[in-house]
Amino acid sequence: EKGGYDWFMQKEIAEQPQAVADTLLGRVNADGKLVLDEMRLSEEELRAITKIIVVACGTAYHAGLIAKYAIEHWTRIPVEVELAGEFRYRDPILTRDTLVIAISQSGETMDTLMAIRHAREQHSRVLAICNTNGSTIPRESDAVVYTHGGPEIGVASTKAFLTQLTACYLVGLYLAQVRGVKFNDEVAEVLTQLSDSPAAIAETLNRMDPVRKLARSMVGARTVLFLGRHVGYPMALEGALKLKELAYIHAEGFAAGELKHGPIALIEQDLPVVVVVPSPKRPLLHDKIVSNIQEVRARGAKTIVIAEDGDEAVAPYADFLFHVPELPILLQPLVATIPLQVFAAELADALGYDVDQPRNLAKSVTVE
Ligand code: F6R
Repeated sequence: EKGGYDWFMQKEIAEQPQAVADTLLGRVNADGKLVLDEMRLSEEELRAITKIIVVACGTAYHAGLIAKYAIEHWTRIPVEVELAGEFRYRDPILTRDTLVIAISQSGETMDTLMAIRHAREQHSRVLAICNTNGSTIPRESDAVVYTHGGPEIGVASTKAFLTQLTACYLVGLYLAQVRGVKFNDEVAEVLTQLSDSPAAIAETLNRMDPVRKLARSMVGARTVLFLGRHVGYPMALEGALKLKELAYIHAEGFAAGELKHGPIALIEQDLPVVVVVPSPKRPLLHDKIVSNIQEVRARGAKTIVIAEDGDEAVAPYADFLFHVPELPILLQPLVATIPLQVFAAELADALGYDVDQPRNLAKSVTVE
């Protein structure tokens, strides 16, 4: 059943190229137009949307944070992202023209379910992004985009995350297509890039041996910090979450720009700091991150850097440097998340923990 892998999580990490490819399958019609067949909201209704609120928990919330960058960029619709468990307790502003997007692998997460029930009571439309056919969240939604990741058994979410991202991109592109002709060229271009992404994901997986080796050398780590900017920021949050839940190591993700506003005080000799670096093709972003890496390294941090192929500018400041294939920045999480997953799983295994069944956690959290 584990197909030769040591743990389900290892198998599920390895299945990511296929999971993303399956989630993309059959989404483009003969005219090159994107079609989402579980989309039961009319184009008219979608054109009327003035605000989007993404609600989700944990890893799915991190997918939502990344979705905000993409959906706002492609559609110019304001997007908020909220932890589902906070949503209904704060009297959120919801109207008929608000689209609430609920992201949930299981489709049974109680916090997320309660959030969409609240949204529907306020007459907002709800679109679910879900991996489990016929589960409660899609049944109670106005529309569903299924991720086709297949069953995920490891408690920590891996392939579900990549397929959630893929579905979020599809929803963003679909909204762009529905809402404006001027976006159509960009939609087609991104769709092509997305269809190339499974190959880039597979290539990233082939490069994971040095990440495994590094993780296994770090069993003594007590704290690990993760830094990123732009979509690298949610990736930093996700890397930290994976490490906490699997290896029971204290980890925190920060927006790199926040460093000097507090967290830099934590940096001490040999503290591991993982940094996700955006493409050098975005020099403003890229150069800022490079100086953040310099700042933490000057204070003794051990820097573990994930950068795009060809990016050597970071090399002088990286104690460990891992390259991932080039993708447009909004899609970079599809590859750059993988070393973070592998790092956490390997370190947990090296510490002797059960990677598939971390303590205190359940795969589906059906209580609020
Ligand atoms: C982390 C993890 C959890 C889930 C969260 C939401 O690895 O698996 O944080 O992402 O409990 O679960 P779903 O997506 O089923 O709503």
